[in-house]
Amino acid sequence: MEQKTSAIVMKGKPVAEKLTERLRSEIEGLAAKTGRPPGLAVVLVGEDPASQVYVRIKERTAKKLGILTFDHRIPENLDQGDLLDLISRLNSDPAVDGILIQLPLPGHLNEQEALRAVALDKDVDVFHPENFGRMALKQGILRPCTPAGVIEMLKHYEIEIEGKSVALIGRSKIVGLPLSLLLLHENATITVCHSRTSDIGAVTREADIVVAALGRPKFLTADMVKEGAVVVDIGINRVDEKLVGDCDYDALVGKVSAITPVPGGVGPMTVAMLMANTVRAFRDHASG
Ligand code: GUN
Repeated sequence: MEQKTSAIVMKGKPVAEKLTERLRSEIEGLAAKTGRPPGLAVVLVGEDPASQVYVRIKERTAKKLGILTFDHRIPENLDQGDLLDLISRLNSDPAVDGILIQLPLPGHLNEQEALRAVALDKDVDVFHPENFGRMALKQGILRPCTPAGVIEMLKHYEIEIEGKSVALIGRSKIVGLPLSLLLLHENATITVCHSRTSDIGAVTREADIVVAALGRPKFLTADMVKEGAVVVDIGINRVDEKLVGDCDYDALVGKVSAITPVPGGVGPMTVAMLMANTVRAFRDHASG
């Protein structure tokens, strides 16, 4: 009988650490040269528990690397005018290189207007429509954090992307849509599945790489992938106080050639790419 080799578990932490180590020494050098550290403003409106966790991790990582953080935790009842005023102040603050507005914003705020108000050169999430457009056209400087984290992770684990067929489940503005573009730039052939796709399994079963980013716990089951496929799980769902991805990890791990765990997979890469974007913005500001 053919011996089944075990799947590569693609953990994000070692990849993220390698990247942040490099950033730490770059920051040291640049800070010595410019006389100031990079600055990241973090705006969190309201009390969303998941957002609070993400923001805490982002700020902790930034501090560890020598990035100065400007913490703006604002009560839920903030109005749109005050939010735009804050963004405007951060835009003109020379100590701030990157501005992160944690999403989702409370429902009464206009998210798109707020994201459009962020200065293009401080938009470290790449959420401004103009930066998104530049990215789509391969003219951008920064890449969106989670999508870029996925690409870096696949490269680290030596998963070939060029020429491969990728089934992407989910078309969100933050993950699915921009990731489809970055994968296209890597010369993959992409099919984007979503809530109106008639038979998602029929698409995923044909794919060399399956990426799940739809936000439904354990949606991707073992019968939905071909033997030896690569699976990337971008889902973070809270089920009975536990974090569960969009993939049925335990069932898939015996069938695939590589898979990301949740937690500990793509998550740390998102944070690392945010740091990379902040340092890139700092470098550009420092060089005038
Ligand atoms: N909410 C969920 N993911 C993200 C992200 O990557 N950046 C921001 N700012 N908010 C988010």
